Amino acid sequence: MIKIKVPATSANLGPGFDTMGIALDIFNTFYVEKSEQLIIENVEEEFKNRNNLFVIAYDKTLAAKNLKANIYVKFETCIPLSRGLGSSSSLVVAGVLAANYLYDLALTKQEMLNICNEIEGHPDNIAPCLLGGFVTTVLENGLPHYKKIEVDKKFKFTVMIPDFEVKTSEARAVMPKQIAVEDAVYSLSRAISLCFALQDGDEERLKISYDDKIHEPYRRKLIPDYEALKIEVIKNGALAFLISGSGSTCLAISRDENFSEKINTKSLKAKWTLIDCNVHRAGAELEYL
Ligand code: HSE
Repeated sequence: MIKIKVPATSANLGPGFDTMGIALDIFNTFYVEKSEQLIIENVEEEFKNRNNLFVIAYDKTLAAKNLKANIYVKFETCIPLSRGLGSSSSLVVAGVLAANYLYDLALTKQEMLNICNEIEGHPDNIAPCLLGGFVTTVLENGLPHYKKIEVDKKFKFTVMIPDFEVKTSEARAVMPKQIAVEDAVYSLSRAISLCFALQDGDEERLKISYDDKIHEPYRRKLIPDYEALKIEVIKNGALAFLISGSGSTCLAISRDENFSEKINTKSLKAKWTLIDCNVHRAGAELEYL
């Protein structure tokens, strides 16, 4: 039996749409071993089949080596579904890691990332999920190239998870097909600046670097409490407030490891769950039990 532990991820970080993401210390865990039959435990009935993303990733990894096999997997999930915290990436990464280990495929991290990206389509969640930390990615001829950037340890990340889902497809559908050049420059300049702010621990730079004009202006309408929550979070000293991935979770960056305790969500429309996180620097982990 092996245990695979994969982190939640927050993609985009505001202006870095589809190009950057960060791993946080909330985890999905999978207990896996070879099996004569396909057995998936601890998921709803509708996910106990080969269309489960974990199994799709596992099958695809084996198929690349002309292999096909069943598997036993038990899910222990803490990453909420359809909330912009990389739950689907966690399944994909875990499925690829399981196949690689159980069948001695000796795939490199880059090869595993390539397979994950073929399934996900954009690498901003899967790269930090697999590799850990804050990761920027470039797609060149369909292949993801990545660069990890250190994040100053003083920065703390608070995820604010509402009691409603936003599907990524829905959040992508509300975005325009084209954007103005000045909006592209607005976000591009901030995305570059944000990388240095997080790396250098530069709080003033972070405050002017987290806003976005590519996706957030359209997506915030899917989160009715967005404006009120942002006011509450900034009033209490956050250095940045943004939508995590495609939402519905929002993310605050601060210097306070108990930042969530300062935030009052009682007057908001949704029920919000706040979790204070650190960056998970190690990436996906596999342990032989
Ligand atoms: N970059 C993606 C998006 C992340 O914002 O749509 C969600 O998978």
